[in-house]
Amino acid sequence: MISKNMESALNHQIELEAYASQYYLAMASWCDSQGMEGAAEFLHAQSIEERGHMMRIFHFLSEVDGFAITPAIPQPPLEFKSIKEIFEKVYQHEQKVTASINKLLAICYKEDDYNTLNFLQWYVEEQREEENLARSILDKINLIGDGAQSLYFIDQEMKNILKMAQAKEAQEKA
Ligand code: FEO
Repeated sequence: MISKNMESALNHQIELEAYASQYYLAMASWCDSQGMEGAAEFLHAQSIEERGHMMRIFHFLSEVDGFAITPAIPQPPLEFKSIKEIFEKVYQHEQKVTASINKLLAICYKEDDYNTLNFLQWYVEEQREEENLARSILDKINLIGDGAQSLYFIDQEMKNILKMAQAKEAQEKA
């Protein structure tokens, strides 16, 4: 069993994760349109991950006799000014998600819901990694610069970052 309050808070989290998936997909499309294949590939992978985050909560709610609501997703922006703006927005969105996870944890403590608290531990770790990743990409963009001459190098770097992230994930699953 899960409280109605917690059920509703988790459904709100489903909305945030679903929006992140669409948001990053829109960013991937913009990068593709600019010929930035590495960044597009990275953002496609992030979009799929976010859907995974949403689905974990879906299944959890079913397991605890709650009801997972399939969310209506607002239209994300389709145009961006630069690759730097994209990763500033990714970082901001990840911070918003972290704040929301922290609110869920606060509800767990308030309601003595240690089952949901245990479930959410995975998200605490994941958010630490995702914020760190977004911040380190932004640092690299700031270092390399995002002028026309630098875009090729940023794009190559995105391919490397994606490869490293995927290798780490495979290692964690093994
Ligand atoms: Fe699922 Fe990146 O927040």
